Amino acid sequence: MSSESFRSQPFFVPGARAREAGDDVATNPSDAPTLGDVVAARYGRRDLLKGLLGVAAISATVSPLALAAARRAAASDELARFPFPELTAPPDETIHVAEGHRAQVLISWGDPVLPGAPAFDPKAQSAQAQAQQFGYNNDFVGFIPLDGPDHGLLVVNHEYTNEELMFPGLGNQSAKNGFSGMTRELVDIEMAAHGGAVIEIRRGPEGWQVVPGSKYARRITAETPIMLTGPAAGTEKLRTSADPDGRNVKGMLNNCAGGVTPWGTWLTCEENFNYYFSGKREGLPEPEMLKRYGLPTSAGAWGRYHDRFDMNKEPNEANRFGWVVEIDPFDPASTPKKRTAMGRFKHEGAANVVNTDGRFVVYQGDDQKMEHVYRFVTDAKVDAANPAANRDILDAGTLAVAVFRPDGSGEWRPLVQGEGPLTAENGFASQADVLINVRGAASHLGATKMDRPEDVEVNPKTGKVYVMLTANDTRTEAEIEPANPRAKNVFGHIVEITPAGGDHAAKDFAWEVLVRCGDPSVAEVGATFSPATTQHGWFGNPDNCAVDGAGRLWVATDGNSRGSTGRTDGVWGVETEGPGRGTAKRFFSVPIGAEMCGPYFTADDTTFFVAVQHPGESEDGRVSTFDDPSTRWPDFKDGTPPRPSVVAITRIGGGRVGT
Ligand code: FEO
Ligand code: CA
Ligand code: CA
Ligand code: CA
Repeated sequence: MSSESFRSQPFFVPGARAREAGDDVATNPSDAPTLGDVVAARYGRRDLLKGLLGVAAISATVSPLALAAARRAAASDELARFPFPELTAPPDETIHVAEGHRAQVLISWGDPVLPGAPAFDPKAQSAQAQAQQFGYNNDFVGFIPLDGPDHGLLVVNHEYTNEELMFPGLGNQSAKNGFSGMTRELVDIEMAAHGGAVIEIRRGPEGWQVVPGSKYARRITAETPIMLTGPAAGTEKLRTSADPDGRNVKGMLNNCAGGVTPWGTWLTCEENFNYYFSGKREGLPEPEMLKRYGLPTSAGAWGRYHDRFDMNKEPNEANRFGWVVEIDPFDPASTPKKRTAMGRFKHEGAANVVNTDGRFVVYQGDDQKMEHVYRFVTDAKVDAANPAANRDILDAGTLAVAVFRPDGSGEWRPLVQGEGPLTAENGFASQADVLINVRGAASHLGATKMDRPEDVEVNPKTGKVYVMLTANDTRTEAEIEPANPRAKNVFGHIVEITPAGGDHAAKDFAWEVLVRCGDPSVAEVGATFSPATTQHGWFGNPDNCAVDGAGRLWVATDGNSRGSTGRTDGVWGVETEGPGRGTAKRFFSVPIGAEMCGPYFTADDTTFFVAVQHPGESEDGRVSTFDDPSTRWPDFKDGTPPRPSVVAITRIGGGRVGT
C-alpha cells in the first residue's frame, strides 16, 4: 500500500487495528472518575478534612468545598461547552481523537508541494527535491480561506530538523557528538527542509485534499531571499560581507508558531535561531548580548560548510535572525519581510487582535527560561476595506514588555530608545540597538522573568489573553513570585491577562493564574486543575493554543510525555468561564516522541488543523533513529521513517469540532 492510499483513509493505525477500524474512537469516558474522586478514594475524606495532603492540594484541588463546587459545575451548562466524550487512549505509536471525530493526515514531510516536485524517497533524498517538497517538523498552521471554510491556503512553519530520523545509516546525531555524520549534502537537505510552506487545500466528500499544481504553492527555505524592514533594517549591525546594505537576508530559521493577519498575510516567528550559529565567543563584539541570546553554539554543523553560520567568519549574520517574518501567501513571487520593529528574540508566536481603536496588536512570548512576554502595537490603524493599505503597518509601532506585579496588576513598559534607562550609556544608542538586543533592554525596564513564555492567544469573545508558560525546572524557591508560583516548575502554567478597559493598547492590565499544570492528585505537584478534571484531563507543558469561534480555549502540549506522566502530548480543551473554570478535557493525542503543534480552527470551527511534530523523537532513554524508529507513523511501512504531518480533524456527520 502506498503512502498516498493511506491518505485516503480517514485514519491510519498499524497492523490488525487498521483493518478493524476506520476511525480511531475512544472508549466513552463520561463516567471516568474525576480527580476529586480519585484523591478522595486514595486518601479518604477524613484525611482531606484533616489537611494531611498539604496546603497546595487541599486549597487547589480537593477541598470539600471545591469538590462540591465541581460537582455542581459538572451538572451545569458551563461544562457542557466541551461535551465530546473524553479521549482515554493510552500512549502508543499513532494518533487518537475523541469519539465522533475523524482525524485525517493531510500532508507529510516529503510530500510534493511545488508543481513537478519529485515523490518522497527518504533513502535518496536531495536538497533540490526537498526544496520542492513539504519540509520537516511542521509547527504553526494557519488557514486563510480562498472562498469559504472548505477551500483555502494552509501556511505551515517548518521549525527544525531531526537528523537522526531523516537520514538512513546516520545513527544518533546531536550536539554531544558534534553532529559528526553531517556532510555538506545532508546539511543542504536540512536547510531545504527548514522555513515554511504554502499549500492550497480543498475539502470534498473524501475529506481534505491538497490541490496539486496550485499557483499558490510555495516553499520557503533557509536560503530564500528575505528583506529586512523597519527601524533596524540597513543599520550597521545587520550588515554582512554578502549584504553590505544590511537589508537582504537568506532564509528564515526555526520558525515556531505564528499568526494570520486580518489582511491575509502570514506571520511566522523565528525562535531558537542561535542553534545554527557556531564559533567561539571570544573576540566577538557585544559578548554580553551574545551570551544572553545563547550565541554562538559550539556544535552546529551548518557553519562547517556555510561561512555565514560561523560567527567568527561572519559575526553579524546572527543579528539577522530572531525576527517576525511577514509573508503574502497569495503571491509566491513576493519577498517575505522580517519586521524589525517587533524586536529580536526567540519569538514563539504572533497572536493578534485589532484593537477597539483600530490599531493592530500582537502578543508574543520569548521562549526561554526567565525571558519575557511582549506586546507590539502598530502606529497605524488597520484599514479593513483596503488590505493593501496594511502592507507595511508592522514596520512602525511600539514594542513593550510585561511586568506582572505580585498584587495581580500589571503594566506594559515600552521599549523606546531614549526613554528611561534605554540610553547610549547603557548600550542603546539607537532604536536599532534596542530592537536587536530586546532582551537586554527589557531587563533594564524590570520585565518579569517568566517560566518559558510560549504561545499567547486572545479570546475575542471576552478580550482576555492567555499566556502558555511551558516549564522552568530551574526556578529556585527564592525566585518564586505570584506569576511564576512554583520552583522547579516542570509542568508549566497558564496566565490569563485582562487588559484595562478592554483596551489591548492600554498600559495597565490585571492578571491571574488560570491553572498550574501537572497531576493534581499528587499533592507535591501543586497543580490547580478544577476537581471536575478527570485522570485523563490534566496535562503538563502547555505550548501552543487556539481559541475557537465559541471562545473556547484549546491547549496543545510539548513535553507532557517526558518522565512518567503516562500520556503523550496532545490537545486539551480548557474551560475558562463559569464554575467549571480550570477544568481540562483530553481531545487528541500524538504518537510517542511527538509534540503537538499548530492548533488552528477554520472560521466556522468545522475543521481543526493540528501539526504532529517530530513523531518518534528519542525520549525517556529510548534512542530512536531512521533505522530503528520508535514509531513509523503515519505510513507504518518498513523502511519508511516517521514523518511530521499536518492532520485535519473534523466531526463525523459535520458540525463544530469538539462538540
Ligand atoms: Fe518552538 Fe517554543 O516552541
Ligand atoms: Ca516546536
Ligand atoms: Ca512551540
Ligand atoms: Ca515547546
